[in-house]
Amino acid sequence: MRFRSLAPAILISGAAFLVACQRSAPSTAPAMASGSSNNAAPVMPNGVTPQLVALGDSLFSGGSCQRCHGNGGVGGENGPSLKTGSWLHADGSFDALVRVITAGVPREALKDSTRRPMRGRGGPMNLTDEHVRAVSAYVWSISRDKK
Ligand code: HEC
Repeated sequence: MRFRSLAPAILISGAAFLVACQRSAPSTAPAMASGSSNNAAPVMPNGVTPQLVALGDSLFSGGSCQRCHGNGGVGGENGPSLKTGSWLHADGSFDALVRVITAGVPREALKDSTRRPMRGRGGPMNLTDEHVRAVSAYVWSISRDKK
């Protein structure tokens, strides 16, 4: 008897709980959407512009990079592909690319010891900091091309 008289109260509070959930759903959804990037073009890292990527493209293609990494960074005899999105030395972030391209990959750090080491700053290209940022921006962008 007592239990039965409680039932409506339980039902009502249950319904109130459901209403509360439904109310909160639409208000949290936009907050989540604005916090994460959608599936459109990836947001460029700080300070990276299409112009910087274009400069990096011409430095990469005109300089030593493509001799080892292939035209467009597809991979070559002495250099891994830079387009696969998986990395041997960098985690793929812009900052990590800047670090590895500035420092190069010395022989003892090579993952594939049959390759020749990569010199820092493009070796004979002797890239300035700004040009390292440019080629890094280019590598960053081609590594995301296909996704
Ligand atoms: C002499 C050949 C050679 C040249 C020139 C060269 N690289 Fe490399 N690069 C390599 C090798 C070898 C590795 C490391 C592969 C390994 O560890 O087996 C590497 C690694 C890299 C990585 C790290 C890849 C990863 O998976 O973490 C990046 C980024 C890169 N090179 C960009 C460049 C850029 C940009 C240039 C031009 C400024 C350049 N490389 C010039 C041979 C070269």
